[in-house]
Amino acid sequence: MKTLIPEPPAKCPLCPRLVEYRAGNEAQNPDWFNGAAPSFGDPEARLLVVGLAPGRTGANRTGRPFTGDHAGWLLYETLIKTGFARGRYDARPDDGLELIDCMITNAVRCAPPGNKPLPIEEKTCRPFLIDRLAALPRLQVIVTLGDVSRRNVLKTLGLPASAAPAGHGVEAEVGPYRLINSYHCSRLNTNTGRLTPAMFEDVFKRARQALAVTN
Ligand code: URA
Repeated sequence: MKTLIPEPPAKCPLCPRLVEYRAGNEAQNPDWFNGAAPSFGDPEARLLVVGLAPGRTGANRTGRPFTGDHAGWLLYETLIKTGFARGRYDARPDDGLELIDCMITNAVRCAPPGNKPLPIEEKTCRPFLIDRLAALPRLQVIVTLGDVSRRNVLKTLGLPASAAPAGHGVEAEVGPYRLINSYHCSRLNTNTGRLTPAMFEDVFKRARQALAVTN
């Protein structure tokens, strides 16, 4: 049986541009995490949330996905509201927040310049996403945050981009999973009103319903 490697080493050497970016961040901020941010949550989760990539001053600084980013506030508060997290999110990895039946990961695990990974970096990081899915024995529902996430999850499953078209709230059966796509909870999307808290909450309510149906 193949050994699964769902998490890259913190100092993953595979993407030269991201390694160089990390080295620059490390030189400026040696007390930051500065590495491939590991997935966070319940290893028995039925729900997997897939983000884009660590933010430079978010997960790249704190070592926990979405933690310390603007995007983290809406994500974690919505997870608490919909019962997928308990505790209090305080933008620190030691805030004691616990995910329930949920795990969060990123399509690309190292912070990219300008929050934009290159296609080759998505491809290089994909084996970790493939193994991340495979290592969740109870996984049923995947919420993709934004287009990079949606495309990478589909590629991970060997499916074309048309298997789950772009758009907020689009749902599709993808292999053994139900995929629910959401606009990314980025500062840009929330500040412009493209994604409202109600729209985002609705995605996780639908994830909850999908879990109830497949139970
Ligand atoms: N932080 C993450 O960890 N992922 C994102 O997609 C955005 C911010």
